Amino acid sequence: MDLHGKTAIVTGASMGIGKAISIALAKEGVNVVLAARTIEKLTEVKKDIKSFNGNSLIVPTDVSSKKDILNLFDKTKKEFGRLDILVNNAGIFTGGNLVDFSIRDYDKIMNINLKGVFICCQQALKIMIPQKNGFIINISSNAVFKGYPEQSVYSASKHGVVGLTQSLANEIQKDGICVALVHPGGVDTDLIKHSRPDIDKSLLIPPEDIAKTIIYMLNLSDNSWVDEIYIRRRAAKPF
Ligand SMILES: NC(=O)c1ccc[n+]([C@@H]2O[C@H](COP(=O)([O-])OP(=O)(O)OC[C@H]3O[C@@H](n4cnc5c(N)ncnc54)[C@H](OP(=O)(O)O)[C@@H]3O)[C@@H](O)[C@H]2O)c1
Repeated sequence: MDLHGKTAIVTGASMGIGKAISIALAKEGVNVVLAARTIEKLTEVKKDIKSFNGNSLIVPTDVSSKKDILNLFDKTKKEFGRLDILVNNAGIFTGGNLVDFSIRDYDKIMNINLKGVFICCQQALKIMIPQKNGFIINISSNAVFKGYPEQSVYSASKHGVVGLTQSLANEIQKDGICVALVHPGGVDTDLIKHSRPDIDKSLLIPPEDIAKTIIYMLNLSDNSWVDEIYIRRRAAKPF
């Protein structure tokens, strides 16, 4: 697809993987709607995008709030009139033994990592189905392939994203909409400091590699689509 002039929403755009994806999309000429909670960091991303004459719009959003999500899609539609790409990237990690894990932390993870993806997909489809066109990319994790100890709730939230994505992809294929999963291994962001403090920082995946992967997926011809991609650290075990 020719990305120039398209419109994308990226959740969790204020730092880490979401920031890299937002910048990469803007470099392709995409109008990028930057959604996250921290306005100061979103402003920095907008400044970076402006430095190469890219276009972006900040919409402060907490993806655990349905009201915020409705506002995000409303503002996007008002500003750009359409939505071509949604990247559901916002996510948090809280680890700990299942036996001691609080219901409060369980709800917080699920509300952001899974319910947020569900509501964002729902709102995106309300724009994309009438357009008969659109791309939704959900960021999962290698935690869906490996049972890391003390990550059961985070892992469950990402398994939920996988199930939601696989079912949805088949449900809306008839409407001309493509849905995909990207499963990153250890990426050099704030999140990994909490989830895998044991990994040597010099061996982590740069967030820009996840962004390049998404650009590659979106740049394919109209006859092709990639359902899912697993990107591992080169030092991690293959397959
Ligand atoms: N880093 C890794 O190794 C790794 C591996 C596999 C999968 N992932 C997944 O990749 C995604 C991005 O993670 P990251 O590593 O880039 O983490 P990060 O550096 O901690 O960034 C997380 C992003 O999500 C946003 N966010 C958190 N809670 C939010 C909320 N309630 N509403 C809206 N935005 C929210 C944060 O912005 P604000 O705080 O400003 O809201 C931030 O922009 C996550 O889904 C994560 O699970 C990461």
